Amino acid sequence: MRTVRTVAELRSALAPARRDGLAIGLVPTMGALHEGHLSLIRRAAQECDLVVVSLFVNPAQFNERADLDRYPRREREDAALAARAGAELLFAPAVEEVYPPGFATSVEVLGGLAERLEGVSRGAEHFRGVATVVTKLLCMALPDVAYFGQKDAQQVLVIRRLVADLNLPVRVQALPTVREPDGLAMSSRNALLSPAERERARSLSAGLRAASELAADGERATEALLGAVREKMAELDVEPEYAALVDPDTLEPVERLTETALLAIAARIGDVRLIDNEILDPTTTTTTTPTHPGEAIATCSA
Ligand code: PAF
Repeated sequence: MRTVRTVAELRSALAPARRDGLAIGLVPTMGALHEGHLSLIRRAAQECDLVVVSLFVNPAQFNERADLDRYPRREREDAALAARAGAELLFAPAVEEVYPPGFATSVEVLGGLAERLEGVSRGAEHFRGVATVVTKLLCMALPDVAYFGQKDAQQVLVIRRLVADLNLPVRVQALPTVREPDGLAMSSRNALLSPAERERARSLSAGLRAASELAADGERATEALLGAVREKMAELDVEPEYAALVDPDTLEPVERLTETALLAIAARIGDVRLIDNEILDPTTTTTTTPTHPGEAIATCSA
């Protein structure tokens, strides 16, 4: 696998494939690859002729300097993992390549989609940073398909919106969350947890599972479902930063589980902020929350 660092190198590496009409898949990442990323790369390799993985820790989407500074960086291991999963090209640009001097443009998805949930907790700059860098990566690589993880359900909605609104010629493919054996959603930030924090981190998936089971037993009141999340998380001494039951397409809060809804949560475990989500379906009578890696949670319909 080849590593390229400039947009010019990326475009010339992709030119023969484009000329031959081959399908190009892009998996945008910030590195510290885990099984969740690898599932995206493997799917891209199945569906496309050539897979590019981008590795760029995007400063514009971090609302806390400390979070950016301690974000795990391990390019050499990432390159080996990406190659093994089926990627041909690693695009690992420097910050100045993505944001050269004089850079003055940003992409912002307006309205509730970017303002709710993570938008409240992390501020408008977070999704502005994500939308801007993803738009740039799509323009740089011009892939046929771009792959994202459903763990970042709100990010997927924001990206689908900008792709539609800007008429970008790419298919956005979201794939299910991959989990550790105890249910913890895989995330690059998990590597920052101490052993004691790692134990408490399973409170997020445990909270989702508790609500999912209650819903499967027939509970429809949002307050009761969110109460089950909070109660379960409290057992591991974790208080959610938010726990919300929302429409899976608009992210507007729902009062009762009468249609498929997205249950989204965020919590701080020590200094590490984690998010997770699950789709609740009122027609389901058994819970789908997985406890094994590679198993899918029910996917968002968006
Ligand atoms: O999900 C991520 O890792 C990032 O938000 C992304 C999509 C690579 C943009 O920086």
